[in-house]
Amino acid sequence: MRTPGSNQEDKKAAGESAAALIKDGMVLGLGTGSTVAWTILKLGESVKEGLDILAVPTSYQSEALAIQAGIQITTLSQHPVLDLAIDGADQIDISLRAIKGGGAAHTREKVVSNSARRFVIVTDGSKYVHKLSVPVPLEVLSFAFNLVVRRVAEMGGQPILRLGKMKDGPVITDNGNFVVDAHFGPIENPQGLSAALCSIPGVIEHGIFCNIDEVHVARGGRVEIIRR
Ligand code: 5RP
Repeated sequence: MRTPGSNQEDKKAAGESAAALIKDGMVLGLGTGSTVAWTILKLGESVKEGLDILAVPTSYQSEALAIQAGIQITTLSQHPVLDLAIDGADQIDISLRAIKGGGAAHTREKVVSNSARRFVIVTDGSKYVHKLSVPVPLEVLSFAFNLVVRRVAEMGGQPILRLGKMKDGPVITDNGNFVVDAHFGPIENPQGLSAALCSIPGVIEHGIFCNIDEVHVARGGRVEIIRR
């Protein structure tokens, strides 16, 4: 898991809370990260007790974890419409808009969450805020890197190429692209910024999500469920 140690108890409580939404026969989208990993593990336990589900994972990491947990994997080709997608977030505001992509999986996460009838976010309370302010991850075609950097700077952002921790040079996503973290400070209009980022050629997907139906926020082990 990417962020061991930080708020693990609350991440576990939120992640496991969302697992209670899953019913027999559902086809799920499984997000990526250390919070939704608890959902996947909990679902794995239920599968061992007889729960019958299929899941589309959003990353190599979630796919490996789901397989290890005994969850049967499917694809969007086989199941283009999912019953429910569950994922973590790097920050989510009180109007249920989120920034995701801390694990560089936001492109598949956006495709999967938009393929689902409902999208649920699981998070610890530290990420539930009044105003989004963390950097916005952009998955960028390497060929377009310089153009994207220039356009983000023209929009008032500070673009930073994400570098590997155990690898020299840039992080390469599961789709074979770069990640640029675009620092804008507090974001007044997430929908407007989303539209502006979508208009930059070479930005494959950005990490602003405005399609969230429900959030499970854990604080001190207690989970609050907020619905749109
Ligand atoms: C991956 C994501 C994650 O959901 C987000 O980074 C939260 O991760 P974690 O639950 O480990 O804090 O968007 O791309």
